[in-house]
Amino acid sequence: MNGSNDHPDLCPINKNDFGMKAAIFERYGAPEVVQIKDVPQPVPGPNDILIRIHATSVSSGDARIRRADPFAVRFVFGFPKPRRKILGYTFSGVVAAIGASVSQFKPGDEVFGSTDMRMGAHAEYLCFPENGVVIPKPAQLSHEEAACLPFGAHTALHYLQLAKVGPGQKVLIFGASGAVGSAAVQIAKILGAHVTGVCSTANLEFVRTLGADAVLDYTKSDQRPQADHFDVVYETVNKTPLSNCFSPLKKGGKLILGAALLKGMIAGQFKGLLEGKKVLAGVALIDLPKLHQISKWATEGRLKAMIDKTYALEEITEAHRYVDGGRKRGAVAVRV
Ligand SMILES: NC(=O)c1ccc[n+]([C@@H]2O[C@H](COP(=O)([O-])OP(=O)(O)OC[C@H]3O[C@@H](n4cnc5c(N)ncnc54)[C@H](OP(=O)(O)O)[C@@H]3O)[C@@H](O)[C@H]2O)c1
Repeated sequence: MNGSNDHPDLCPINKNDFGMKAAIFERYGAPEVVQIKDVPQPVPGPNDILIRIHATSVSSGDARIRRADPFAVRFVFGFPKPRRKILGYTFSGVVAAIGASVSQFKPGDEVFGSTDMRMGAHAEYLCFPENGVVIPKPAQLSHEEAACLPFGAHTALHYLQLAKVGPGQKVLIFGASGAVGSAAVQIAKILGAHVTGVCSTANLEFVRTLGADAVLDYTKSDQRPQADHFDVVYETVNKTPLSNCFSPLKKGGKLILGAALLKGMIAGQFKGLLEGKKVLAGVALIDLPKLHQISKWATEGRLKAMIDKTYALEEITEAHRYVDGGRKRGAVAVRV
């Protein structure tokens, strides 16, 4: 692998005897199961890049895997304990070294992306295939912003594309202040929709600043969404009763149950069949075209990473605790 020592982010050749700090979880459970430990630094194979991570994020997805919530997480990530011991779905950093066959990146390049289901970004270094979901970081974005964009934005983009949201459509977004919801409001506006965001009183102004045309406070009984009015309803947080998701939808409209678990998905599909409304649910996987699209909008200043709080890697247990609270406004960044 290629690299040099004259830049703080670059690695000397053959560093397999070097260590790094990483947030390790060896069992599922409360935030305290995550502990900072010294572990061997990963060594890139011929097609890999080694990234010195500058920022990552603790997402609701990381917290769910840590808690094994739902139980089925264990079938994917390891039973009875996690197979992959480092969480972290998104990253932003600098290429520290490259494998012998790597052609698209060079040491010193600033990059950001997503590890997808491999996880592993809650660490000082990450080894990553050069053809993975990693692209140059827009110069306008800080590492924290770049690390906090993909989780919410790719999920929102996936579902809004699936629902074929376009100009003039009326879109209602429940959970509009979360990581996914805050991205969904911005992306639905970019796609030309008329957007109504639903959140609690404390977040009304925040959702307005994201570009929502209208905001509704779900704590106020006189602010219920208009019935039979919306082309698309996107429930991003799995907190809204199914009947409240269906009633604002026009006949033939689309309901996105973006955070529903299996039981909710099945109930939604049945109700959708009965009411003549289409239900979209499932896993939103990230890919390169989506990351490029997100990056382009961010570069143009049309899509912003909303960062609620920033923690140091050493404080990651605290970051998990905050995410578990379920009240974050946008994303939680971790500076590495
Ligand atoms: N399908 C997929 O592939 C996929 C991908 C990514 C994420 N997800 C799932 O999507 C969900 C949302 O993720 P996220 O990161 O956006 O969550 P998040 O940021 O943790 O959501 C926090 C937001 O939820 C709102 N909220 C809390 N309680 C509420 C309630 N009772 N009613 C309405 N809103 C409430 C809060 O706003 P207020 O304080 O204003 O209520 C807060 O801003 C998670 O369950 C995640 O697992 C699924």
